[in-house]
Amino acid sequence: MLLAIETSCDETALAVFDVAAFLNGERRREAVLRAEIVSSQVALHQPYGGVVPELAAREHLLNLPPLVNGLFENARCTPADILGVAVTRGPGLNGCLLVGISFAKSFALGRKIPFLALHHLEAHLFAAELGDPIEQLEYPSLALLVSGGHTELILLESFRKYQVLARTRDDAVGEAFDKAATLLGLPYPGGPALAQCAEAGAPGAFEFPIGMSKDETAFSFSGVKTAVLREVQKLGERIGDEKVRGDMARAIEECFVSTLSEKTERALEKHRPKSLILTGGVAANTALRASLANIASAHKIPFRVPERRWCTDNAGMIGMLALRIIEQDNALAGHWRGQANESSLAEHQSIGSLPRWPIEHLHL
Ligand code: KG4
Ligand code: ZN
Repeated sequence: MLLAIETSCDETALAVFDVAAFLNGERRREAVLRAEIVSSQVALHQPYGGVVPELAAREHLLNLPPLVNGLFENARCTPADILGVAVTRGPGLNGCLLVGISFAKSFALGRKIPFLALHHLEAHLFAAELGDPIEQLEYPSLALLVSGGHTELILLESFRKYQVLARTRDDAVGEAFDKAATLLGLPYPGGPALAQCAEAGAPGAFEFPIGMSKDETAFSFSGVKTAVLREVQKLGERIGDEKVRGDMARAIEECFVSTLSEKTERALEKHRPKSLILTGGVAANTALRASLANIASAHKIPFRVPERRWCTDNAGMIGMLALRIIEQDNALAGHWRGQANESSLAEHQSIGSLPRWPIEHLHL
């Protein structure tokens, strides 16, 4: 088995994967992903309207030991069954990453088993494999990765070879959702609240500008934030009116969805990938899922989007990426097949966190 750990932001997430079964060709999800847990810290950070890094790190530290015990119970395994650990190395909040990495390293060192330190965004891409059955990504593929910290269009050229075609100049789209929601007086976390509010809104009541509309290498969302702020100030007390708020939420969501969709479609026409992937926390957004599904369908390529629980941060995606790495690495695969290979076990112990880690620098 493999223990997967994700603590890069405000979710303490763990999963246990049956590596041996996967290497033997098992692809039923429940047979490979044996147990999974995500402990959200939303309630802890709510009073501050955002994630407080020090509190998040402390919470991970308190959470991990009891969560691991519960996870092993659910997976009906013991620490002795774990033959390797995979953990998020970055990007993310440094204190949070360090808690996960230290935990993973200690566990691996104590048991003399391999330790894999992985890229959070690369793992978000592999969440798209976590269907039932588990299905390998096609290459080349185009991915729109949208979360609280990232907005990137990524071309997956081949296994672990990425080209970033576009990224945000300012706010990530998840962050823009959250900030706009705060301006509308919606509760934290704002993205899902704004999306829910938009469902009741009428189209066309407000209009917000699309940033960097001509530049195919950049997204920009900070202009929308300013425009929303102006509109809210203009409306004064009327922003408390549910109808007005719904209409405004609808316009904000439409602006974000059409910006993302337009650039994705342009990249698709230029690079002609074999499939379109949508992933990251904002991939949970219903309007965005529908829009990209339409684009993929118009271009007659498969659309791959994880189920919602694997869009936001989770450890399933970390384990899924680890499975693909193990599968391609003779020493690691041999280790899970019972062939001892001491040299590959100890080499990762000097690895530290990488809070800023562009995906282009994956192999540096
Ligand atoms: O991937 P994620 O869980 O964490 C990061 O790595 O950032 O993404 C969290 C982001 C937050 O900004 C949250 O507001 C946004 O995803 N989000 C949504 C929805 N669900 C989560 N945004 C819009 N609509 C949603 N339904
Ligand atoms: Zn994430």
